[in-house]
Amino acid sequence: MDEIYKRRSYHDGFDGTKKISDDDINAILKAGMNAPSANDTQPWEFVLINDAEKLQELSSLNHWTRAVGTSSHTIIVCMKPDIYAGIDCGIAVQNIVLQAAHMDIGSLIMGVHDNEGYQQKIKSLLNIPDEYIAYSMIALGYPAETIPPNDKWYPEKIRLNSF
Ligand SMILES: Cc1cc2nc3c(=O)[nH]c(=O)nc-3n(C[C@H](O)[C@H](O)[C@H](O)COP(=O)(O)O)c2cc1C
Repeated sequence: MDEIYKRRSYHDGFDGTKKISDDDINAILKAGMNAPSANDTQPWEFVLINDAEKLQELSSLNHWTRAVGTSSHTIIVCMKPDIYAGIDCGIAVQNIVLQAAHMDIGSLIMGVHDNEGYQQKIKSLLNIPDEYIAYSMIALGYPAETIPPNDKWYPEKIRLNSF
């Protein structure tokens, strides 16, 4: 499946002049919504950002969020915590970036850690309710650079029949 290998992290951002169409962004969100989840709980909400000012604010949070500034859209995956919610939301994030890769749209997954009030800053900026965690941000846009596909293969990571 080509998309697995061609999906790369666009740490330095995107071609800020090109916008993703509504149909394409909806296809990307639909891919997220169709992720499997334990008991079909779907413990996610997707905050879609296309407002230039909000993109700039998210972009300036730290060095590792700079790609948001040139993204066409950024999605914040919000998670309602539960025993399997972390796995569920991780799969939703992967579905989103693979669907984007399928449409030649670049992406960057960003974790939202708890240091320096980072989690709370994002929650306040986007009015995320207390019962949700800002799980991950995904910046999306058309590539401004060519990043070669991944081709990792580590046989030593495979342990046959016992660790
Ligand atoms: C949970 C998670 C959090 C990440 N957080 C960031 C981040 O905050 N900023 C960033 O530029 N890249 C972030 N990345 C991207 C990784 O650095 C990247 O996936 C890794 O270096 C492998 O490169 P590739 O995605 O191009 O294969 C994150 C990736 C994951 C899965």
